[in-house]
Amino acid sequence: MKDRYDNSISTGSARARDAYVRGLDRFLGAELGVEEALSEAIAEDPDLALAHVTLGRYRQVMGDRAGAQAAMEAARGCGRELSPREAGQVAIFDMLIAGKTAAGYEAARAQLREFPRDVLTAQACLGALGLIGFSGRAGREAENLALAEELAPAYGADWWHQGLLAFAQLETGQLDRAEGNITASLAGNSRNAHAAHIRSHLFYERGETDAGYGFITAWRQGYDRRAQMHCHISWHIALWALERGDVDEMWRIIDRDVDPRQSSGPPINVVSDLAAVLYRAEMAGVEVPQARWQVIADYTAAHFPKPGLGFADMHGALSYAMAGRPEALDRIIQGAKGPAADLVRDLAEAFGALAAQDWERADHLLTRSLADHARIGGSRAQRDLIEFASLMVLLRLGRKREARRQLAMHRPRIALRNSLAGM
Ligand SMILES: [Fe+2]
Repeated sequence: MKDRYDNSISTGSARARDAYVRGLDRFLGAELGVEEALSEAIAEDPDLALAHVTLGRYRQVMGDRAGAQAAMEAARGCGRELSPREAGQVAIFDMLIAGKTAAGYEAARAQLREFPRDVLTAQACLGALGLIGFSGRAGREAENLALAEELAPAYGADWWHQGLLAFAQLETGQLDRAEGNITASLAGNSRNAHAAHIRSHLFYERGETDAGYGFITAWRQGYDRRAQMHCHISWHIALWALERGDVDEMWRIIDRDVDPRQSSGPPINVVSDLAAVLYRAEMAGVEVPQARWQVIADYTAAHFPKPGLGFADMHGALSYAMAGRPEALDRIIQGAKGPAADLVRDLAEAFGALAAQDWERADHLLTRSLADHARIGGSRAQRDLIEFASLMVLLRLGRKREARRQLAMHRPRIALRNSLAGM
C-alpha cells in the first residue's frame, strides 16, 4: 500500500491506510480529528506502526507527553517487519519524544536525505517551533529555509510543503516568493490551518493590518476551537485588534480564545501567546489587571515547572516578572537550560528589570539580546515582543530618535500605529 506521498506502508488493509492518510493530513493541516482518524486506522490494523508514530507526534505537539510515550510504546510493540523508512521513522520519533533532541534531529536529516517525502519527519524539522526553530543555533532561519528549499523538488506542488516553504521565506524577508507559495498552499487545501496562519504572518510582515484582520477573522469562523492552531490564530487576531485600536475586541478574543480557562491550545502556545499579548497590550498603553498576570503565571508554573524549553521559559519569565513572583523568575534565571540558555537568562533578567522599571538595566540586557534573538525560536511576529520592549525602554529613557532609527533598521515594514505608546 502507498500513502498520499507515494511512500509504501506496511499494511494489508485499505481502510487502515485511508484512515492513516486522513489522520496524517489532518495533522499536517492542524485540523480537528487527528486522534479519531488515527485511532480508526489502528482499530483496522493494530500493527500499522506509522499510525502509532503519527499519533505520538500529534500528542507531543499538543503537550500530552504521557500519551505520546504510550503511542511510541505501541509503535515499538508492532509485530510486523518494517521497511527501512518505517523503521527509521519509528526510531526518530522514539528519540524526539524521549527528549533526545540532538540525536533525533541528526537521524531526521539522514532520513530525509534518503526519503525526502517522509513528511512527518520533514514536518518535525521545519517551522518556527520545529527542531531547527528550537535548535538555538545562530543562523537557524537560514537553515530552516535551506531545508525547505532542499526538499522542494521532492514535493512539487504539495500544499503542506508550499506552506512551510512560504513560512521559511517570509521569516527571511522573501515576502513576494512567500506570497506565491502560500497562495498555492491555500488553494491546494483551504482548510489547512497552518497555511491560513502563515498567510497571516505575511500580512503582518507587510504591515497590512486591516487586510490581515479581515482575512483571518473570516477564515477562523470555519475552524473548530478545539483544533491545534485555534489559540495561536486567535493571538494574531487579538494583536491586530490592538493595532486597530479596538481594545474591547482584543479582550474579548483573549478571554474566549487564548486564556486557558476557556481555550485548550497546546501549552507552548498558551504560555507564549497569553504572556505576549498581555505585555504587548501594556506596551500599547492598555491597563492590564494584575489578576490576568496571576492566571498566566499559575499556568506557567503548572505546565513548565522546570526550565528546559527556552521559548516557553522566556515567556514564563515574563509572566513571573509581571505577576510579582521573584522566586519563580529567579529559578528561570539560575536554571536556564538548553542551547539558548544564555538568551533565556538575559531576557528573564530583562523582564525582571522592566517590571521593576529599571530602564537602564533593561536596556542593557535587551540590547544584548537584539544581536540574535532568533536563536530563542518562534516567529518574527512573536519576537516583536523583544523588539517592542527594547523600543519602549528607549522611549522611557527619552531616546525617541534612537527608537525610531532602531525600528526602521529592524522592522521597517510592520504596522505600529497603536501598538506602542509614545512611538
Ligand atoms: Fe504566528
